[in-house]
Amino acid sequence: MLAGKRILLIIGGGIAAFKSLDLIRRLRERGATVTPVLTSAAEEFVTPLSTSALSAQKVYRDLFDLTDEAEMGHIELSRAADLVVVAPATADLMAKMAGGHANDLASTLLMATDKPVLIAPAMNVRMWEHPATQRNLKTLAGDGILLVGPDEGDMACGEYGPGRMSEPLAIVDAVEAALKDGPLKGKHILVTSGPTHEPIDPVRYIANRSSGAQGTAIARALSALGAEVTFVTGPADVPPPLGVNVVNVQTAQQMLEAVQQALPTDGAIFAAAVADWRMKSASDSKLKKDKDGTPVLEFAENPDILATVSQLTKGRPELIVGFAAETDQVIENATAKRKRKGCDWIIANDVSPETGIMGGSENAVTLIKDSGAESWPRMTKDQVASRIAHAVAEALT
Ligand code: CTP
Repeated sequence: MLAGKRILLIIGGGIAAFKSLDLIRRLRERGATVTPVLTSAAEEFVTPLSTSALSAQKVYRDLFDLTDEAEMGHIELSRAADLVVVAPATADLMAKMAGGHANDLASTLLMATDKPVLIAPAMNVRMWEHPATQRNLKTLAGDGILLVGPDEGDMACGEYGPGRMSEPLAIVDAVEAALKDGPLKGKHILVTSGPTHEPIDPVRYIANRSSGAQGTAIARALSALGAEVTFVTGPADVPPPLGVNVVNVQTAQQMLEAVQQALPTDGAIFAAAVADWRMKSASDSKLKKDKDGTPVLEFAENPDILATVSQLTKGRPELIVGFAAETDQVIENATAKRKRKGCDWIIANDVSPETGIMGGSENAVTLIKDSGAESWPRMTKDQVASRIAHAVAEALT
C-alpha cells in the first residue's frame, strides 16, 4: 500500500531508536523506499551499518559531509521524499523543530523540506509532560506537523506513563494516513466518545467515570487508516486526537443532535458512555440547602443514540458498532444488547471495578457479530483501537 512512496526517516537519539530498525523493515514490506538519516545521538543507539543494511540505502549522517553534498545536497534530500518521518522524535529534536533551529543535518532537513512531516515522540514521561515539551507540541501542531503517539506504558527508564514511542505498525498506519493512502481513504466515520454531563442546576451535574480514552484511541486509529473522522465527544479527561473533526457536547441530547448533523457517514462507532437519565427539569438557579431541604431528583430517560441511528430506515451508516459496558454475564448481556439496539457489532467489556478498565489504560473486549463472539486478550486501549479500526476497514472495503 506504500508502493513507490519515498520516506525520509530521521532517527533521533533515544532508546526507542532500536524500534526504528523494525519500522524500516515494516515500511519496506509495504513497498516504500526508506532513506535513513541518523542524528549523532542516534548513533549511540543504532549503527549506520545496521540502518543501511535494513534500508538497503545510503545512510545520511552529517551536515558537513562534503561527499554527500556533492552527491545530493540537503535541500534536495529533504524534498526527494513524499513524507519525512521523525522516529524517535526526542524532546531535543521537537524543541529544535519548534524553535526553527538548523544546526545539524536532521534539523536542517526539517527546516528545508516542503513535504509533510510526521513525528513519533519518545521520551521519559516527565520530559513528555514538561510544559516546554507540551508548548513545543502545540507549536508543532500549529505548524501542521503530524503526530503519532506517544503510547502509555512501562518505559525503559523504569517509569510508567505516556512517552513510549508508538509501535512500528501504528507508525506505518500513520504514514499511510499522512500519505492519504490507508484502506479507509475516502470513508467518513463517526465516533462518539467520553461521558455526558446532565445538569442538576447551574453548578451540579450527573456524570460517570468514562475518561474517553478508548473512544479517542479509536478515532485516532481510524484516522490513521485514512478515514475522515467526525468525533463527537462529551467532557473527556483525555485530549481529542489531532486531524479529526471534533464536536464538543455536554449532554446526551446535544450528543444526539451532533450525531444527526454528522450523518450520513459510512460507519459509526458509539464508544460514548451516555448517561441513561437526565433531570426531568434542571433548575435554572442553584439549589440551596437551607431553602429547599433535601432535594428529590426526578429523572427522565435520555434518547438512546445508538438505537436511534441503528434503526434509521434512511441514511443508516453501513456499519454500526456499539459498546456494552457490563459488570455481570458480560457476553450474554452484550449479545442481547446488540439485538435490542439493532447495531451490527457490539464490543463488550467488563467494567467491574476490579478489572481497572474504566479510567485505566488497558481493555479486554469481546467482539460480537451476527456470526458469533470473539474474545481478544487484554491489551492497551491503543491496541484494541487499532484492531477495531482494521476490522472496520475490512468490513467497509
Ligand atoms: N448508548 C447511546 N445512547 C444512550 C445509551 C447508550 O448511544 N442513551 C450507546 C453507548 O454509546 C454504547 C451502547 O449504547 O455504545 C451501550 O451502552 P451501555 O451503557 O452499555 O448500555 P445501556 O443502553 O445503558 O444499557 P443498560 O443500562 O441496560 O446496560
